[in-house]
Amino acid sequence: MAAGAAAPGLFFTFAAMVLLIFASVSAPTWNSISFLNADSIHFGVFGYTGSSTNVGYYFPGNLGDSRINGTLFHNFTEVLILVPIAAGLSGIALLFGLCGFAYHRAGTVFMTLVSALAFLTTLVVWVIEMVLFGVARSHMRSRGIDANWGNANWLVLGALVSLFFAFFASACGIFGSYRRRTY
Ligand SMILES: *[C@@H]1O[C@H](CO)[C@@H](O)[C@H](O)[C@H]1NC(C)=O
Repeated sequence: MAAGAAAPGLFFTFAAMVLLIFASVSAPTWNSISFLNADSIHFGVFGYTGSSTNVGYYFPGNLGDSRINGTLFHNFTEVLILVPIAAGLSGIALLFGLCGFAYHRAGTVFMTLVSALAFLTTLVVWVIEMVLFGVARSHMRSRGIDANWGNANWLVLGALVSLFFAFFASACGIFGSYRRRTY
């Protein structure tokens, strides 16, 4: 083992990547993962139960109203693309971390930088999706529709916490001992 110092950061970036991948394949691809459930329609990153897979969507039928079908909230549904982007950044941080683990301190330095970027991306998308689906939920409920939070909100929140730890763990890992492998 070249550098155990990189290991904790690796663990947390890996966990964040897995959580963000699960959130990315939400409805309509995988119906049991969603941000909001209303009248058996599940809303995910790229659409909702029965819709095609798109970046950005409108709330269908009587679930939408002029406010949540308006430009602002439609733009928010497009911003959900940041979930798979954050998953990709976590994956890149993981690859740098593996280099740090196996070869060189520089890998851990890049893991720290990229996990910070992944953290900020996840923070932005988590705040926006909570606003988007929170407002949509209360608008639906005020019209008597049974709308409930889905599990993907907590997957993204878990990834956010994990990336927070990943950043500090890899930043500390930079100062661990890195010995070159001798054969
Ligand atoms: C919102 O948009 C969807 C899709 O275009 C449409 O089915 C729905 O009727 C719209 N709702 C309102 C209130 O405009």
